[in-house]
Amino acid sequence: MKNIYLNIFKPNSSNLDKAKKNIETNNVIGLPTETVYGLAGNAYSDKSVRKIFAMKKRPSINPLIIHYENLNDLKKDAILNNNFIKLYKSLCPGPITFVLNKNPDSKISKIANAGKKTIAIRFPKHRVARNLLKIIKVPLAAPSANISSKLSPTCAKDVVDEFGKKIKFILDGGQCNIGLESTIVDLTKHPSILRKGVVTKEKINKILNKKITFSKSKKITKAPGQFRLHYSPGIPIYLNKTKIRKNGAFIAFGKKFNNNQNSYNLSQNGNLREAANNLYKVMRKIKNKKYNSISVCKIPNTGIGKAINDRLKKASFKWVK
Ligand code: TXA
Ligand code: MG
Repeated sequence: MKNIYLNIFKPNSSNLDKAKKNIETNNVIGLPTETVYGLAGNAYSDKSVRKIFAMKKRPSINPLIIHYENLNDLKKDAILNNNFIKLYKSLCPGPITFVLNKNPDSKISKIANAGKKTIAIRFPKHRVARNLLKIIKVPLAAPSANISSKLSPTCAKDVVDEFGKKIKFILDGGQCNIGLESTIVDLTKHPSILRKGVVTKEKINKILNKKITFSKSKKITKAPGQFRLHYSPGIPIYLNKTKIRKNGAFIAFGKKFNNNQNSYNLSQNGNLREAANNLYKVMRKIKNKKYNSISVCKIPNTGIGKAINDRLKKASFKWVK
């Protein structure tokens, strides 16, 4: 049988070596992380970072997250503080990104940071991402591997779904374990959450032993996860609905709803972690089946549910007046 995915590679040592060579020659690759797949390149190289922005059609004012394997490497690029150390010890590696002040001596591409004095950094937990970071000498700039404003990819084939033949090399790390982008917390002042994720506000409050906030900043450059339409499957999404529209699909949650032909249940058991993991998978399936809208039932707005509702709200923006 013909292999139609010539750009997807098993993460064995010879392919990790090929990935390393791609990074060293300033090419970009698809990289699995536990949250979503990233489009990764050498964070020290303007050339590589420019390729990332161009492939994603990403506005140049929207900075990238820089990925590290260990604390020592990070020290060259960021100024660490006490809140960071506490959160790092409890949560890293894992699905959380920190905004810190950038070290003035850092060699990170200014294009990657969109010229900001701060830097968003993360220690991914996925074995394949860590194995690659261990064998390269540079940190990786890696936004989610999707065209700007579209759905994030949660498996290697989704990356092909986004970029087709334009992406030459993707490491296959299977289905992402979390399936939703990392929580982003700004630690440059009193901690605040810029993007919700499976690491909840309650969890961070507990570790820091202080009350943190959700950022209400309307400034487009603060966390452009806050751009209006985002995480979009490209069809109208209607929230808090109980009925499906004609030729539409339905996203359900909990045991009240059965899975049927046009209805996709994020978690029959009402488990928010499972629902978060299924969200993009289900939305991409619906997009590819050419339905013309999605109606979504009410999803509890507690804990991880807040991150799910945040993504759904942003995905529905353009369509709701
Ligand atoms: O889970 C994730 O975080 C994935 C994986 C691949 O690591 N990455 C990801 O990257 O979601 P991206 O580019 O899709 O989202 C990064 C977010 C953007 O909303 C960006 O604006 C914000 O991080 N960001 C980056 N640098 C920042 C900074 N210095 N200050 C505030 N926000 C920043
Ligand atoms: Mg993204």
